[in-house]
Amino acid sequence: MATLAPEAPALAVDPLDVSRPELYRDDVWQAPFRELRATSPVHRVEHSGFGPYWSVSTYKPIVHVESMPELFSSQAGGITLADFIEQDPTDVRMPMFIAMDRPKHTGQRRTVAPAFTPSEMVRMTDNIRMRTAEILDTLEWNTPFDWVDTVSVELTTQMLAILFDFPWEDRRKLTFWSDWAGDIELVKSPELRLERLKHMYECGAYFQNLWNGKVGKAPTPDLISMMIHSDAMAEMDQMEFLGNLILLIVGGNDTTRNTMSAIAYGLDLFPDERAKLEADPALIANTVQEVIRWQTPLAHMRRTATADTVLEGQQIKAGDKLALWYLSANRDESVFPDADRIIVDRPNARRHLAFGHGIHRCVGARLAELQIAILLEEMAKRRMRVNVLGEPERVSACFVHGYRKLPVEISRY
Ligand code: HEM
Repeated sequence: MATLAPEAPALAVDPLDVSRPELYRDDVWQAPFRELRATSPVHRVEHSGFGPYWSVSTYKPIVHVESMPELFSSQAGGITLADFIEQDPTDVRMPMFIAMDRPKHTGQRRTVAPAFTPSEMVRMTDNIRMRTAEILDTLEWNTPFDWVDTVSVELTTQMLAILFDFPWEDRRKLTFWSDWAGDIELVKSPELRLERLKHMYECGAYFQNLWNGKVGKAPTPDLISMMIHSDAMAEMDQMEFLGNLILLIVGGNDTTRNTMSAIAYGLDLFPDERAKLEADPALIANTVQEVIRWQTPLAHMRRTATADTVLEGQQIKAGDKLALWYLSANRDESVFPDADRIIVDRPNARRHLAFGHGIHRCVGARLAELQIAILLEEMAKRRMRVNVLGEPERVSACFVHGYRKLPVEISRY
Protein backbone atom coordinates (compact mmCIF):
# COMPACT_ATOMS: atom_id res chain seq x y z
CA MET A 1 0.00 0.00 0.00
CA ALA A 2 1.33 3.41 -0.95
CA THR A 3 2.08 5.70 1.96
CA LEU A 4 0.99 9.29 1.75
CA ALA A 5 3.74 11.90 1.94
CA PRO A 6 3.39 13.89 5.15
CA GLU A 7 1.89 17.31 4.54
CA ALA A 8 4.22 20.25 5.00
CA PRO A 9 3.32 21.87 8.34
CA ALA A 10 1.38 25.08 7.85
CA LEU A 11 3.43 28.11 8.84
CA ALA A 12 2.19 29.89 11.92
CA VAL A 13 0.84 33.36 11.27
CA ASP A 14 3.54 35.94 11.94
CA PRO A 15 1.85 38.62 14.07
CA LEU A 16 4.24 41.24 12.67
CA ASP A 17 3.50 40.40 9.05
CA VAL A 18 1.56 43.56 8.31
CA SER A 19 0.91 42.60 4.68
CA ARG A 20 -2.02 40.37 5.75
CA PRO A 21 -5.20 41.75 4.13
CA GLU A 22 -7.45 40.88 7.08
CA LEU A 23 -5.64 43.42 9.27
CA TYR A 24 -7.09 46.15 7.06
CA ARG A 25 -10.46 44.51 6.43
CA ASP A 26 -10.99 44.24 10.21
CA ASP A 27 -9.26 47.55 11.03
CA VAL A 28 -6.80 45.94 13.48
CA TRP A 29 -3.52 47.05 11.87
CA GLN A 30 -2.80 49.68 14.56
CA ALA A 31 -1.40 47.32 17.25
CA PRO A 32 1.18 45.43 15.12
CA PHE A 33 2.45 48.70 13.67
CA ARG A 34 2.70 50.20 17.16
CA GLU A 35 4.86 47.24 18.15
CA LEU A 36 6.99 47.50 15.02
CA ARG A 37 7.63 51.20 15.56
CA ALA A 38 8.57 50.64 19.19
CA THR A 39 10.72 47.54 18.80
CA SER A 40 11.82 47.07 15.20
CA PRO A 41 11.25 49.99 12.81
CA VAL A 42 13.11 48.20 10.03
CA HIS A 43 11.91 44.65 10.37
CA ARG A 44 12.44 41.56 8.25
CA VAL A 45 9.45 39.29 7.55
CA GLU A 46 10.56 35.94 6.09
CA HIS A 47 7.21 34.43 5.16
CA SER A 48 4.26 36.36 3.82
CA GLY A 49 1.71 36.15 1.02
CA PHE A 50 4.19 38.28 -0.95
CA GLY A 51 7.40 36.46 0.04
CA PRO A 52 10.15 37.93 2.25
CA TYR A 53 10.23 41.70 2.74
CA TRP A 54 11.42 44.44 5.09
CA SER A 55 8.83 46.59 6.86
CA VAL A 56 9.90 50.21 7.33
CA SER A 57 7.40 51.64 9.80
CA THR A 58 8.73 54.92 11.26
CA TYR A 59 8.94 58.39 9.74
CA LYS A 60 12.69 59.00 9.51
CA PRO A 61 13.87 55.91 7.61
CA ILE A 62 11.01 56.23 5.11
CA VAL A 63 12.14 59.76 4.27
CA HIS A 64 15.73 58.47 4.07
CA VAL A 65 14.82 55.67 1.64
CA GLU A 66 12.72 57.94 -0.58
CA SER A 67 15.54 60.47 -0.71
CA MET A 68 17.90 57.92 -2.30
CA PRO A 69 16.08 56.74 -5.43
CA GLU A 70 19.22 55.25 -7.00
CA LEU A 71 19.86 53.00 -4.01
CA PHE A 72 16.18 52.22 -3.46
CA SER A 73 14.63 51.67 -6.87
CA SER A 74 10.97 52.01 -7.84
CA GLN A 75 11.64 50.23 -11.12
CA ALA A 76 13.53 47.11 -10.07
CA GLY A 77 10.51 45.43 -8.51
CA GLY A 78 7.62 47.86 -8.91
CA ILE A 79 5.84 49.83 -6.22
CA THR A 80 3.72 47.27 -4.41
CA LEU A 81 4.68 44.22 -2.39
CA ALA A 82 3.19 42.03 -5.12
CA ASP A 83 5.96 40.79 -7.39
CA PHE A 84 5.61 40.58 -11.12
CA ILE A 85 5.41 36.89 -11.99
CA GLU A 86 7.92 36.16 -14.74
CA GLN A 87 6.85 33.68 -17.44
CA ASP A 88 3.21 33.88 -16.41
CA PRO A 89 1.04 34.91 -19.36
CA THR A 90 -1.67 36.15 -16.97
CA ASP A 91 0.71 38.66 -15.42
CA VAL A 92 1.69 41.23 -18.00
CA ARG A 93 4.11 43.99 -17.16
CA MET A 94 2.61 47.41 -17.72
CA PRO A 95 5.34 50.03 -17.38
CA MET A 96 4.18 53.22 -15.66
CA PHE A 97 6.23 56.15 -14.55
CA ILE A 98 5.54 55.70 -10.84
CA ALA A 99 7.51 52.46 -11.26
CA MET A 100 10.38 53.96 -13.28
CA ASP A 101 13.71 55.35 -12.17
CA ARG A 102 15.55 58.36 -13.53
CA PRO A 103 15.98 59.47 -16.25
CA LYS A 104 12.87 57.96 -17.89
CA HIS A 105 10.71 58.83 -14.92
CA THR A 106 11.63 62.51 -15.17
CA GLY A 107 10.49 62.92 -18.79
CA GLN A 108 7.18 61.14 -18.35
CA ARG A 109 6.34 62.91 -15.10
CA ARG A 110 7.03 66.24 -16.79
CA THR A 111 4.44 65.41 -19.44
CA VAL A 112 1.51 65.14 -17.04
CA ALA A 113 2.69 67.66 -14.42
CA PRO A 114 1.17 70.66 -16.30
CA ALA A 115 -2.30 69.20 -15.63
CA PHE A 116 -1.73 69.80 -11.90
CA THR A 117 -0.14 73.26 -11.67
CA PRO A 118 -1.61 75.97 -9.38
CA SER A 119 -3.02 77.79 -12.42
CA GLU A 120 -4.76 74.61 -13.61
CA MET A 121 -6.23 74.27 -10.14
CA VAL A 122 -7.66 77.77 -10.37
CA ARG A 123 -9.11 76.91 -13.78
CA MET A 124 -10.80 73.78 -12.42
CA THR A 125 -12.13 75.21 -9.16
CA ASP A 126 -15.52 76.46 -10.38
CA ASN A 127 -16.29 73.24 -12.14
CA ILE A 128 -15.38 71.10 -9.12
CA ARG A 129 -17.47 73.34 -6.88
CA MET A 130 -20.46 73.15 -9.19
CA ARG A 131 -20.34 69.35 -9.40
CA THR A 132 -19.84 68.97 -5.66
CA ALA A 133 -22.79 71.26 -4.96
CA GLU A 134 -24.95 69.33 -7.41
CA ILE A 135 -24.24 66.02 -5.73
CA LEU A 136 -24.74 67.36 -2.20
CA ASP A 137 -28.03 68.94 -3.27
CA THR A 138 -29.40 65.60 -4.47
CA LEU A 139 -28.89 63.99 -1.03
CA GLU A 140 -31.99 63.34 1.08
CA TRP A 141 -31.72 64.69 4.62
CA ASN A 142 -32.28 62.27 7.52
CA THR A 143 -32.49 59.26 5.19
CA PRO A 144 -29.93 56.42 5.16
CA PHE A 145 -27.66 56.04 2.12
CA ASP A 146 -24.17 54.78 1.21
CA TRP A 147 -21.71 57.70 1.33
CA VAL A 148 -19.01 55.81 -0.58
CA ASP A 149 -21.00 55.21 -3.74
CA THR A 150 -23.22 58.30 -3.71
CA VAL A 151 -20.62 60.91 -2.85
CA SER A 152 -17.00 59.68 -2.83
CA VAL A 153 -17.07 57.45 -5.91
CA GLU A 154 -19.31 59.74 -7.91
CA LEU A 155 -17.26 62.88 -7.27
CA THR A 156 -13.88 61.32 -7.96
CA THR A 157 -15.12 59.49 -11.04
CA GLN A 158 -16.55 62.69 -12.49
CA MET A 159 -13.20 64.39 -11.89
CA LEU A 160 -11.32 61.67 -13.74
CA ALA A 161 -13.76 61.78 -16.64
CA ILE A 162 -13.03 65.50 -16.97
CA LEU A 163 -9.26 65.02 -16.71
CA PHE A 164 -9.33 62.46 -19.51
CA ASP A 165 -12.14 64.07 -21.52
CA PHE A 166 -13.80 60.66 -21.11
CA PRO A 167 -17.37 60.00 -22.38
CA TRP A 168 -19.58 61.09 -19.49
CA GLU A 169 -22.18 58.31 -19.69
CA ASP A 170 -19.45 55.64 -19.49
CA ARG A 171 -17.58 57.20 -16.57
CA ARG A 172 -18.32 54.38 -14.10
CA LYS A 173 -16.11 52.19 -16.27
CA LEU A 174 -13.22 54.19 -14.82
CA THR A 175 -14.25 53.16 -11.31
CA PHE A 176 -14.57 49.53 -12.39
CA TRP A 177 -11.11 49.44 -14.02
CA SER A 178 -9.58 51.27 -11.11
CA ASP A 179 -10.95 48.76 -8.60
CA TRP A 180 -9.50 45.86 -10.59
CA ALA A 181 -6.15 47.52 -11.21
CA GLY A 182 -5.55 48.62 -7.62
CA ASP A 183 -6.30 45.30 -5.93
CA ILE A 184 -2.92 43.68 -5.27
CA GLU A 185 -4.49 40.66 -3.56
CA LEU A 186 -5.56 39.44 -7.01
CA VAL A 187 -1.99 38.50 -7.77
CA LYS A 188 -2.41 35.49 -5.48
CA SER A 189 -4.97 33.77 -7.78
CA PRO A 190 -4.33 32.76 -11.43
CA GLU A 191 -8.07 32.94 -12.29
CA LEU A 192 -8.40 36.47 -10.95
CA ARG A 193 -5.14 37.52 -12.62
CA LEU A 194 -6.59 36.39 -15.91
CA GLU A 195 -9.84 38.23 -15.32
CA ARG A 196 -7.96 41.36 -14.36
CA LEU A 197 -5.92 41.15 -17.53
CA LYS A 198 -9.13 40.94 -19.57
CA HIS A 199 -10.47 44.12 -17.96
CA MET A 200 -7.16 45.93 -18.39
CA TYR A 201 -7.19 45.12 -22.11
CA GLU A 202 -10.78 46.42 -22.36
CA CYS A 203 -9.58 49.58 -20.68
CA GLY A 204 -6.65 49.83 -23.10
CA ALA A 205 -8.86 49.32 -26.15
CA TYR A 206 -11.34 51.95 -24.96
CA PHE A 207 -8.59 54.50 -24.42
CA GLN A 208 -6.92 53.62 -27.70
CA ASN A 209 -10.12 54.77 -29.41
CA LEU A 210 -10.10 58.02 -27.49
CA TRP A 211 -6.43 58.49 -28.39
CA ASN A 212 -7.10 57.84 -32.09
CA GLY A 213 -9.82 60.48 -32.02
CA LYS A 214 -7.36 63.12 -30.80
CA VAL A 215 -4.30 62.35 -32.92
CA GLY A 216 -3.60 65.10 -35.46
CA LYS A 217 -5.98 67.52 -33.71
CA ALA A 218 -5.11 70.75 -31.89
CA PRO A 219 -4.02 70.23 -28.26
CA THR A 220 -6.78 70.27 -25.61
CA PRO A 221 -6.23 70.54 -21.83
CA ASP A 222 -6.80 66.86 -21.03
CA LEU A 223 -4.32 64.14 -20.15
CA ILE A 224 -4.66 62.16 -23.37
CA SER A 225 -3.97 65.19 -25.52
CA MET A 226 -1.03 66.08 -23.27
CA MET A 227 0.43 62.62 -23.82
CA ILE A 228 -0.08 62.79 -27.59
CA HIS A 229 1.66 66.17 -27.80
CA SER A 230 4.68 65.30 -25.63
CA ASP A 231 8.00 63.95 -26.86
CA ALA A 232 8.49 61.77 -23.79
CA MET A 233 5.18 59.99 -24.15
CA ALA A 234 4.06 60.18 -27.75
CA GLU A 235 6.21 57.21 -28.70
CA MET A 236 5.02 54.90 -25.93
CA ASP A 237 4.24 51.32 -26.89
CA GLN A 238 0.81 49.81 -26.12
CA MET A 239 1.77 48.48 -22.73
CA GLU A 240 3.37 51.70 -21.59
CA PHE A 241 0.32 53.66 -22.72
CA LEU A 242 -1.94 51.32 -20.78
CA GLY A 243 0.34 51.36 -17.73
CA ASN A 244 0.39 55.15 -17.50
CA LEU A 245 -3.37 55.38 -17.98
CA ILE A 246 -3.94 52.92 -15.21
CA LEU A 247 -1.54 54.85 -13.01
CA LEU A 248 -3.55 58.02 -13.49
CA ILE A 249 -6.89 56.25 -13.08
CA VAL A 250 -5.92 54.47 -9.84
CA GLY A 251 -3.84 57.41 -8.61
CA GLY A 252 -6.71 59.83 -9.06
CA ASN A 253 -9.56 57.61 -8.06
CA ASP A 254 -9.17 55.29 -5.07
CA THR A 255 -7.03 57.69 -3.10
CA THR A 256 -9.21 60.79 -3.22
CA ARG A 257 -12.31 58.63 -2.93
CA ASN A 258 -11.11 57.05 0.29
CA THR A 259 -10.19 60.41 1.79
CA MET A 260 -13.71 61.67 1.05
CA SER A 261 -15.07 58.63 2.87
CA ALA A 262 -12.67 59.27 5.75
CA ILE A 263 -14.08 62.80 6.02
CA ALA A 264 -17.45 61.28 6.85
CA TYR A 265 -16.24 58.36 8.95
CA GLY A 266 -13.34 60.02 10.77
CA LEU A 267 -15.09 63.24 11.76
CA ASP A 268 -18.00 61.20 13.14
CA LEU A 269 -15.53 59.20 15.28
CA PHE A 270 -14.24 62.43 16.85
CA PRO A 271 -17.34 64.59 17.41
CA ASP A 272 -15.47 67.19 19.50
CA GLU A 273 -13.14 67.82 16.59
CA ARG A 274 -16.05 67.93 14.16
CA ALA A 275 -17.69 70.55 16.40
CA LYS A 276 -14.49 72.64 16.27
CA LEU A 277 -14.54 72.50 12.48
CA GLU A 278 -18.24 73.29 12.26
CA ALA A 279 -17.69 76.34 14.46
CA ASP A 280 -14.72 77.58 12.41
CA PRO A 281 -14.61 76.84 8.67
CA ALA A 282 -11.16 78.50 8.53
CA LEU A 283 -9.92 75.12 9.80
CA ILE A 284 -10.91 73.39 6.55
CA ALA A 285 -7.46 73.62 4.88
CA ASN A 286 -5.77 72.04 7.88
CA THR A 287 -8.52 69.44 8.26
CA VAL A 288 -7.87 68.30 4.68
CA GLN A 289 -4.24 67.54 5.59
CA GLU A 290 -5.19 65.96 8.88
CA VAL A 291 -7.75 63.59 7.38
CA ILE A 292 -5.32 62.59 4.61
CA ARG A 293 -2.74 61.86 7.34
CA TRP A 294 -5.20 59.92 9.47
CA GLN A 295 -6.56 57.87 6.57
CA THR A 296 -3.37 57.44 4.49
CA PRO A 297 -5.24 56.07 1.44
CA LEU A 298 -2.18 54.22 0.11
CA ALA A 299 -0.79 52.21 3.00
CA HIS A 300 2.60 51.52 1.43
CA MET A 301 4.89 51.93 -1.54
CA ARG A 302 7.63 49.46 -2.19
CA ARG A 303 11.27 50.01 -3.06
CA THR A 304 13.92 47.46 -4.03
CA ALA A 305 17.53 47.85 -2.84
CA THR A 306 20.01 48.05 -5.73
CA ALA A 307 23.09 47.48 -3.51
CA ASP A 308 23.92 46.18 -0.05
CA THR A 309 23.33 48.85 2.56
CA VAL A 310 22.50 49.44 6.21
CA LEU A 311 19.23 50.96 7.38
CA GLU A 312 18.64 51.66 11.09
CA GLY A 313 21.34 49.07 11.87
CA GLN A 314 19.79 46.35 9.66
CA GLN A 315 21.78 44.77 6.83
CA ILE A 316 19.79 45.17 3.64
CA LYS A 317 21.00 43.13 0.65
CA ALA A 318 20.83 44.11 -3.02
CA GLY A 319 17.51 42.82 -4.38
CA ASP A 320 15.69 42.96 -1.01
CA LYS A 321 12.26 44.52 -1.07
CA LEU A 322 11.15 47.14 1.39
CA ALA A 323 7.59 48.22 2.20
CA LEU A 324 7.50 51.87 3.21
CA TRP A 325 4.46 51.99 5.47
CA TYR A 326 3.18 55.55 5.16
CA LEU A 327 0.20 54.42 7.19
CA SER A 328 2.48 53.74 10.14
CA ALA A 329 4.80 56.74 9.67
CA ASN A 330 1.69 58.93 9.84
CA ARG A 331 0.94 57.43 13.27
CA ASP A 332 4.54 57.88 14.48
CA GLU A 333 4.04 59.49 17.91
CA SER A 334 7.47 61.12 17.84
CA VAL A 335 6.23 63.29 14.95
CA PHE A 336 2.45 63.37 15.52
CA PRO A 337 1.50 63.30 19.24
CA ASP A 338 -1.80 61.50 19.91
CA ALA A 339 -1.48 60.24 16.36
CA ASP A 340 -4.51 57.94 16.34
CA ARG A 341 -6.83 60.90 16.83
CA ILE A 342 -7.99 63.34 14.20
CA ILE A 343 -7.11 66.81 15.55
CA VAL A 344 -8.43 69.37 13.07
CA ASP A 345 -6.02 72.09 14.24
CA ARG A 346 -2.98 69.82 14.56
CA PRO A 347 -0.06 72.22 13.96
CA ASN A 348 2.04 69.90 11.78
CA ALA A 349 -0.67 67.95 9.92
CA ARG A 350 1.02 68.99 6.63
CA ARG A 351 4.10 66.95 7.46
CA HIS A 352 2.26 63.70 6.72
CA LEU A 353 3.80 61.23 4.29
CA ALA A 354 0.57 60.08 2.62
CA PHE A 355 1.73 61.58 -0.70
CA GLY A 356 5.19 60.04 -0.36
CA HIS A 357 8.42 62.04 -0.44
CA GLY A 358 11.10 62.86 -2.99
CA ILE A 359 11.08 62.48 -6.76
CA HIS A 360 7.91 60.35 -6.86
CA ARG A 361 5.90 62.51 -4.46
CA CYS A 362 2.30 62.50 -5.68
CA VAL A 363 1.95 64.63 -8.80
CA GLY A 364 -1.83 64.95 -8.23
CA ALA A 365 -1.61 66.10 -4.60
CA ARG A 366 -2.91 69.63 -5.29
CA LEU A 367 -5.91 68.32 -7.17
CA ALA A 368 -6.75 65.87 -4.40
CA GLU A 369 -6.48 68.62 -1.78
CA LEU A 370 -8.64 70.95 -3.85
CA GLN A 371 -11.44 68.41 -4.31
CA ILE A 372 -11.49 67.50 -0.63
CA ALA A 373 -11.40 71.13 0.52
CA ILE A 374 -14.30 72.00 -1.77
CA LEU A 375 -16.30 69.07 -0.44
CA LEU A 376 -15.80 70.36 3.13
CA GLU A 377 -16.59 73.95 2.11
CA GLU A 378 -19.82 72.99 0.38
CA MET A 379 -20.84 70.84 3.36
CA ALA A 380 -20.15 73.80 5.66
CA LYS A 381 -22.25 76.14 3.48
CA ARG A 382 -25.19 73.76 3.89
CA ARG A 383 -24.44 73.17 7.59
CA MET A 384 -24.37 69.51 6.64
CA ARG A 385 -23.23 66.94 9.19
CA VAL A 386 -22.70 63.31 8.21
CA ASN A 387 -23.82 60.83 10.87
CA VAL A 388 -22.39 57.32 10.53
CA LEU A 389 -25.06 54.65 11.04
CA GLY A 390 -22.91 51.52 11.23
CA GLU A 391 -19.41 50.14 10.73
CA PRO A 392 -18.03 50.59 7.21
CA GLU A 393 -17.15 47.70 4.94
CA ARG A 394 -13.43 48.05 4.37
CA VAL A 395 -11.08 47.09 1.54
CA SER A 396 -9.29 43.82 2.34
CA ALA A 397 -5.77 44.71 1.17
CA CYS A 398 -2.51 46.19 2.42
CA PHE A 399 -2.10 48.68 -0.46
CA VAL A 400 -5.29 50.67 -1.08
CA HIS A 401 -6.50 51.59 2.40
CA GLY A 402 -10.18 52.42 2.22
CA TYR A 403 -13.86 51.77 2.34
CA ARG A 404 -16.31 49.87 0.15
CA LYS A 405 -19.48 50.96 1.92
CA LEU A 406 -20.33 53.45 4.62
CA PRO A 407 -23.96 53.76 5.80
CA VAL A 408 -24.77 57.33 6.82
CA GLU A 409 -27.48 59.93 7.03
CA ILE A 410 -27.08 63.68 6.91
CA SER A 411 -28.55 66.20 9.30
CA ARG A 412 -28.26 69.97 9.74
CA TYR A 413 -26.23 71.45 12.59
C1 HEM B 1 2.16 59.14 -6.79
C2 HEM B 1 -0.73 59.17 -2.90
C3 HEM B 1 -4.11 61.61 -5.43
C4 HEM B 1 -1.60 60.69 -9.46
C5 HEM B 1 1.67 58.95 -5.53
C6 HEM B 1 2.39 58.33 -4.45
C7 HEM B 1 1.58 58.34 -3.37
C8 HEM B 1 0.34 58.96 -3.74
C9 HEM B 1 1.89 57.76 -2.00
C10 HEM B 1 3.75 57.68 -4.65
C11 HEM B 1 4.89 58.28 -3.96
C12 HEM B 1 6.15 57.46 -4.04
O1 HEM B 1 6.27 56.43 -4.73
O2 HEM B 1 7.05 57.91 -3.37
C13 HEM B 1 -1.89 59.86 -3.25
C14 HEM B 1 -2.94 60.21 -2.31
C15 HEM B 1 -3.88 60.91 -3.01
C16 HEM B 1 -3.43 60.97 -4.40
C17 HEM B 1 -2.94 59.85 -0.84
C18 HEM B 1 -5.18 61.51 -2.55
C19 HEM B 1 -5.46 61.85 -1.31
C20 HEM B 1 -3.72 61.59 -6.74
C21 HEM B 1 -4.45 62.18 -7.84
C22 HEM B 1 -3.75 61.90 -8.98
C23 HEM B 1 -2.57 61.15 -8.59
C24 HEM B 1 -5.75 62.98 -7.70
C25 HEM B 1 -4.06 62.22 -10.42
C26 HEM B 1 -5.20 62.49 -10.93
C27 HEM B 1 -0.37 60.20 -9.07
C28 HEM B 1 0.71 59.89 -10.00
C29 HEM B 1 1.81 59.46 -9.23
C30 HEM B 1 1.37 59.51 -7.85
C31 HEM B 1 0.65 60.01 -11.51
C32 HEM B 1 3.20 59.05 -9.73
C33 HEM B 1 4.21 60.15 -9.46
C34 HEM B 1 5.65 59.79 -9.79
O3 HEM B 1 6.01 58.63 -9.82
O4 HEM B 1 6.44 60.72 -10.03
N1 HEM B 1 0.42 59.36 -5.06
N2 HEM B 1 -2.22 60.33 -4.49
N3 HEM B 1 -2.59 60.99 -7.23
N4 HEM B 1 0.06 59.97 -7.80
FE1 HEM B 1 -1.03 60.27 -6.12
